[in-house]
Order: sequence, then C-alpha cells, then structure tokens
Amino acid sequence: MGYILVCDDERSICTMLQIAFQNQGHRVETVTGGEQACRKIDATLYDVVVTDVRMPHVNGMAVLQHSRRVSPETAVIVITAVDDTEVPIEALNAGAFYYIRKGPKLLEDVLTAAALALDRGRLRQQNAALKRDAAQHNSLDNLIGESEPMRALKQTIRTIATTNSTVIVSGESGTGKELVSRAIHTCSPRSNEPYVSVNCGAFPETLLESELFGYVKGAFTGATSNKRGLFELANGGTIFLDEISETTLGMQVKLLRVLQERCIRPVGGGQEMPVDVRVIAATNKNLRQMVQDGLFREDLYYRLSVIPVEVPPLRNRGDDVILLANHFLKKFAVQMSKDVVRLAPESLQVIKGYDWPGNVRVLENTIERAVAMSYEDELKVELPEQGGGQITPPAAGSAQGAVGVVLPPDGIDLERYIADVEKSLLQSALRRSNGIQTRAAELLHLSYRSFRHMMKKYDLS
Ligand SMILES: Nc1ncnc2c1ncn2[C@@H]1O[C@H](COP(=O)(O)OP(=O)(O)OP(=O)(O)O)[C@@H](O)[C@H]1O
Ligand SMILES: [Mg+2]
Repeated sequence: MGYILVCDDERSICTMLQIAFQNQGHRVETVTGGEQACRKIDATLYDVVVTDVRMPHVNGMAVLQHSRRVSPETAVIVITAVDDTEVPIEALNAGAFYYIRKGPKLLEDVLTAAALALDRGRLRQQNAALKRDAAQHNSLDNLIGESEPMRALKQTIRTIATTNSTVIVSGESGTGKELVSRAIHTCSPRSNEPYVSVNCGAFPETLLESELFGYVKGAFTGATSNKRGLFELANGGTIFLDEISETTLGMQVKLLRVLQERCIRPVGGGQEMPVDVRVIAATNKNLRQMVQDGLFREDLYYRLSVIPVEVPPLRNRGDDVILLANHFLKKFAVQMSKDVVRLAPESLQVIKGYDWPGNVRVLENTIERAVAMSYEDELKVELPEQGGGQITPPAAGSAQGAVGVVLPPDGIDLERYIADVEKSLLQSALRRSNGIQTRAAELLHLSYRSFRHMMKKYDLS
C-alpha cells in the first residue's frame, strides 16, 4: 500500500480524498497549504503527492517543482481548476505524473491516477532490485573459483559491498584484484552509479593530481578550459585507485585529505567541492613494509586499511586452476573460432603441478597462446617457462629458477647479464607496444614510474 500526501486549501477536498484513500488501505496525510506540503516532502518519502494548483502563498506548481527536486521518485498528481488551460502543459513539462481537472469525477480520476502511480513505483522498485540481483550474480560469477579461499573471498565481497567503507585489495600480481574491486562495486547499492578506475602508477604526480581532482582554466599552461576530475566523474559511485603504492608522498597527503574531508579541490581553483565516492585501492606491494621504509604515509595506510581484502595466490586455490584453465580455453576457442574443446590429460597434470607465480593473468596468457597455436580438439599447454625459445623470466616470488640459463664453466658477470636481459626486454616491450610506454610498462608488469626509471638507466627513448 502507498504513502500519500494530499494538499488542497479546500479542507473538504482533503477530507474526501483522505477517506477514499484510507478505505483502500493507504496511509494518508493532508495539508492545506503549499508551504506545509514542501516541509512534509522534505521529511518523508511519499509514493504519491496530490496537490491543488491554486492556493494562496505557495501554489501547487511550486509544490510540484519542489517535490521533483528533492524526491524525484515521488509521483505528483496535479489538480487544476476547470478553466485553467495553461497549467496542464506547464505541469506535465515540470514532471507531473498526471493532471486532473476539478469536476464531478474528481474523486474517481484521482484514485485511478494514484493507482497507476503506485503500480509504476512498484515496478520500478522491482526492476531496480532485479537489476541489482542480476548484477551481483554476474559480477560474482565472473570470479571463477570454488576453492575454500575463493568462497570466503566472495562472501567477504558480498558483506562489504553493502557498506561505504574504504577498501584496500592486496594480493600478488595477476590474482584478480581489479576483478574483485569491480565485483564490490557491482554488488553494492552504488552499482547503477559510475565505476571509475585509475592506475596511479601510470601518471607522474602533477598529472595524476589533475586527473583525479580536475583543474580550472588557467591552472597551468595548456589548461584552456575547466576539466572535471575522476573523483567528480565517480560521484555517487566508486573510484578504484590501482597501484596505490606508486603514488608520491605528496600525492598521498592529498588523497588522505579527500578520504578525511570527502571534498576535492580542482588544481588552480579555490573552491572545495563535496564528493560522495567510495574508494577502493589496490596494491601488489607490502604497504606495511613500505610504511616502515618511509615510502608510504602511515596515516593514509590506516585510512585505507579500514577493510583489508586479500586475494589469495592461485597456487593456494586447489583445483580452481583447472576451472580457470577450462574457462579460458572456452573463451579463447570462441574468440578465435577454434575447435579445441578440452585440455589434454597430460596438460591437466602440468597445469596442476605448476605454482603459477604470475597467477591468473599468466594462466590466461598461457591458455591464450596454446589455443592460438592449437589445431586439435585437445589442448596441449606449455608452461610459460618452457615457452618455445622466448625469454620468460619467472615472476617475483617464484620458487622456480630462471629456466634455460646455464652457468658457464668460468662463471658469468651476473649484474651485466641481468642488465642485458632487462634492456633487451624493455626494447621488446617498446616495440610490441608501438612505443606506447604505459602499455610497455604493463607488458613488463612494471609501474609507469619504475618503467621510466629503467628507460633512463638504459638510455632508451
Ligand atoms: N577468479 C577469476 N576468474 C576469472 N578471471 C580471473 C580471475 N582472477 C583473475 N582473472 C583474470 O585474470 C586477469 C588478471 O586479473 P586482474 O587484472 O584483476 O589482476 P590484478 O590482481 O589486478 O593484477 P596486477 O596486480 O598485475 O594489476 C584478468 O584478465 C582477469 O579477468
Ligand atoms: Mg591490476
């Protein structure tokens, strides 16, 4: 049943409508002036407001406009005098749900219109609930994994999605931190609002600041117009600050301020602007260690770690690795129109026996490469370390040694050797990304900052 406000300066009309609505089981309140109506609308979420237009002081059009502004979900039914020809159009333009002329059928018409409005409201709510439900399913279904740690992770996501707290997602490279962050957003009440993702490692400090907070015309050379920052674009929704460890200490102060005050200040502009944004940060570094080493501000660290979420490495997820391998097999078979339908039995063993230091991302790349080269219905998988003549150094933290490099009898200049490998991989990455440095950095799993640093070191441009 609905919650209805009736506003008419003729008390008899108020009473008539009140009794009729109450008989249908609705909750009704009545007022006899526009000003009272506006005050009630500020305080209560009505399903329907029925208002007369001609009233002394604050008229019904003002009530309509006020209601549209503060409570856009509420349907407003406007009652006009018989001889008002202008008002109906004006009312509909201003967002009225319906207009009704006063006359002998007034009661009947109002009841019909209110019933329609309540139906529409119910449909909208059901729709929103269904959408949210579907989005939840989708986003959690995208996170493949049935192992205990993954079940626990999904449960955590469901739980924290309902809150507005800041989250820090940590885990080794390629474990799915970005996917987890997105799932938190899509499971949250903010799911219909924007989700904005920023890689903090991809920008130098000043650029990152103007990306995040925007700038005003004239803030710096080249700022020829005002530009909104990503925090403003994410207003009402979620912002994902990836590679938060790559921010400078100066930037960290600014982020801390946003988290504390929930306000942003565009570069070059004095005006503070409130923002309602949920922050999810991610890192594959040990932030606590970085705090101890003076590379990350302790206060920001504590602000961010309100809710810590740890994404487990693939090697701790048991048979999930097979689920994931099959998932990627299907995905790439469809994408590349290949007939491959299953993993070869010996490949199953190979995949299960490996500890996947680069986690899901490397598994995905491995399967992609295997599918691309496969012409049978059984997929044979080569581990990244065996990747036919390619240089595939193990990822950080790997238990395995760099396969294929044999120590020569009279030793090796290790530093120079490593430097040669680094330089050669940097050059390959630049070639493969057509010189796009952020992309090349990604290929090497490096932050933009570290990548630039190495470019300088090896005098590459
Ligand atoms: N549980 C999972 N189910 C399906 N796909 C996954 C899963 N986890 C990761 N992926 C896929 O693996 C790839 C890497 O995931 P993602 O980019 O989220 O990792 P990450 O933790 O952010 O890595 P990095 O630290 O390197 O940025 C993506 O293509 C993602 O879709
Ligand atoms: Mg990532």
